[in-house]
Amino acid sequence: MGEEAHQEMSSPVEETLIVVKPDGVRRMLVGEILGRFERKGFSVKDVKMLTMSKPQAEEFYSVHKEKPFFGELVGFITSGPVFGAVLSGRDAVATVRRMVGATKSWEAAAGTIRGDFGLGYTDNLIHASDSAESFSHERAAFFGKSRG
Ligand code: CMP
Repeated sequence: MGEEAHQEMSSPVEETLIVVKPDGVRRMLVGEILGRFERKGFSVKDVKMLTMSKPQAEEFYSVHKEKPFFGELVGFITSGPVFGAVLSGRDAVATVRRMVGATKSWEAAAGTIRGDFGLGYTDNLIHASDSAESFSHERAAFFGKSRG
């Protein structure tokens, strides 16, 4: 089998969710952030702007509910409007997370979104699903159960 055929098989097209957090929206970075994913080649499948309610944020971040920073996380994500988008493309979960960069923005590599635009931790500009299972849970929490 040629290398190209092998690559096609090992990197399937999949979907993931990004959410530009309240700091990214306040700083008017939505276009910059979404544009990076479009220029990379991802298709935008769905978008929504909203201010999350506390119960919605608790559901969205339920994987972190036992963590000491859970209250801070929910408080921050509900502090203003956020912008979510479902992106589709090859190996989307891992590729998008590489483009987002490390959680601690001050450690994130230059060329990543967090590396180029911030120094925050809770306020680290963007969330991206870390697995297919997280995507499915987060999409339902963000867009509502009836969609897709
Ligand atoms: P995110 O990718 O949205 O997933 C969970 C978020 O928790 C993470 O980005 C950070 O913004 C936030 N966070 C705040 N404090 C911590 C911490 N001590 N460890 C991990 N994540 C944290």
